[in-house]
Amino acid sequence: MALREIIVEGNPTLRKISRPVVNFDAKLGILLDDMKETLKKANGVGLAAPQVGILRRAFLIDFDDKIVEFINPKIVEKSGEQEGFEGCLSVPDTRGVVVRPMKVKVEAVDRYGRPFSMEMEELFARCACHEYDHLEGILYIDIAKDKEKCDNLAEEIKE
Ligand code: CO
Repeated sequence: MALREIIVEGNPTLRKISRPVVNFDAKLGILLDDMKETLKKANGVGLAAPQVGILRRAFLIDFDDKIVEFINPKIVEKSGEQEGFEGCLSVPDTRGVVVRPMKVKVEAVDRYGRPFSMEMEELFARCACHEYDHLEGILYIDIAKDKEKCDNLAEEIKE
């Protein structure tokens, strides 16, 4: 495994729409393993492939006990509402208040192309929406109500 560089706001790659993963091969496994290591090193809760410069539809969420890989994800259900601070590994030292669904259901496939679905709420619902937006070239600062500088981002909002 190897660390990948996390690109930051201003890099045009973050503004592009990612393409679906079509090859479930060794190269994909290497990318996901590298993203896992990069996410752990950054102490974040989520990381999307475009944040390491790869325009493919894949992201990771760290559920404390395990990191789950979501490939070609779709948010198929949303309910409720929450409002809270978000930060982003690609927007250093900034946080902002974002309104997100309280619960979501995501359908995706794993690194071998096997479909699964997962329901998430609170922090993880917010993270899934944040990471999904990365695949669409959207950053949370586009939709945040307020933004402020913040020297020490809490781990749970590094997405
Ligand atoms: Co982010």
